[in-house]
Amino acid sequence: MTSDLMEKVVSLCKRRGFVYPGSEIYGGLANTWDYGPLGVELKNNIRDFWWKTFIHGREEMFGIDGSIISHPRVWEASGHVENFKEPLVECKSCHKRFKAENATSNKCPECKGELTEEKMFNGLFKTFLGATEDSSSIAYLRPETAQAIFINYKNILDSFHPKLPFGIGQIGRSFRNEVTAGNFIFRDLEFDQMEIEYFIDPQSDWQKYFDQWQEEMKKWLVAVTGAPEAKISIREHGDKERSHYSKKTVDIEYEYPFGKKEVWGLAYRTDFDLAQHQKFSGVNLQYRTEDGRDFIPHVIEPSFGMPRTLLITLLEAYKEEDKRVVLKLNPKLSPYKVAVFPLLANKPELVKVARQIFDMLRPELRTAWDDRGNIGKRYLSQDEIGTPWCITVDFQTLEDNTVTVRDRDITKQERVGIDKLIEYFQNKMK
Ligand code: GAP
Repeated sequence: MTSDLMEKVVSLCKRRGFVYPGSEIYGGLANTWDYGPLGVELKNNIRDFWWKTFIHGREEMFGIDGSIISHPRVWEASGHVENFKEPLVECKSCHKRFKAENATSNKCPECKGELTEEKMFNGLFKTFLGATEDSSSIAYLRPETAQAIFINYKNILDSFHPKLPFGIGQIGRSFRNEVTAGNFIFRDLEFDQMEIEYFIDPQSDWQKYFDQWQEEMKKWLVAVTGAPEAKISIREHGDKERSHYSKKTVDIEYEYPFGKKEVWGLAYRTDFDLAQHQKFSGVNLQYRTEDGRDFIPHVIEPSFGMPRTLLITLLEAYKEEDKRVVLKLNPKLSPYKVAVFPLLANKPELVKVARQIFDMLRPELRTAWDDRGNIGKRYLSQDEIGTPWCITVDFQTLEDNTVTVRDRDITKQERVGIDKLIEYFQNKMK
């Protein structure tokens, strides 16, 4: 199934409202995607799971939500204006750009026109602040959420006086002027990142913290996506590939249907960023220990990208079995936890009770309503979007106040009292 798995997942995403191609009615815009009603729920559930695990779940972590546009000096200090470039070639006829490493001849892969020599292109999205468009009003959309953390590090010190090691995490949008299209949401012009800057004493054993984060990341990848460990691997960057700020970088990789590629990155950024911001801003960013030592902390950076997390979650959940397509999502991530059906849509006495149950469950659990077609079709429809439980109100309900609850994975039903439903699902969700 793997070779066409991508196609099937992409098609399901579009058909059922997870992910739509960006600007579709205008013919699309490469590397942009819109999350539909189910996609946004899945994304929010992954986001909340990350926040609970890494921010709420750890005593030494602080969450922030920094602005997307920051002072242009931030990106000069961080080195992105200078270094966030990659070698591209451009077609002299159609003016499309391609990564130099992917150009196997001097002919354009699309229109066969002649390609230019390699040129360095900057991946930052540029904009202008205020009414004038000149070099004094240039601003950049952030290419990583990390810098918002570095420029708020001092605020966190002043407000919370944390002891080292401590971390600051945030989730937010990043923007990159990517030229390579394909593989669905794998590489986008804009995407959510979930990043942590973990500040440590430079005298401590950075490799120990690095290794611990590597394990945490692998563990969370298995927990969130259900991917087997055998499909996950670690690849260290060589000297040429490593970013300008990093002393050691590894990619957490996964076996996608289109090959083994990066999911997330982990880097030892040393004191590069804080030292640069101290130099460029003139503000003292040193940390003072209880015994009076002053230094700039070093940083381990686990950097998680949302689209690849979501893609792997869908790829791993997608199953075809017994003539049905089922998304075996972790119920915590499923867009809907429960769906409620009246057995027959034309029996008002059944519809009335089903609506009462729907209204009772909605404040507690994301709940869907379906009264179209027959029960079998409704089950199949909910299986395809990963709803773990379906409730049917039938004629027995009117006699004994019980309903059937059908389990997505084992396709078995059991009868549960209406008054026990909330507790029943709360226990299941544990
Ligand atoms: N702050 C470090 C940093 O941004 P990165 O390896 O460039 O490191 C981190 O990006 C993660 O963000 C990647 O591992 C990937 O999951 C995600 N990511 C990066 N560029 C992306 C893109 N164009 N589309 C989708 N996700 C992307």
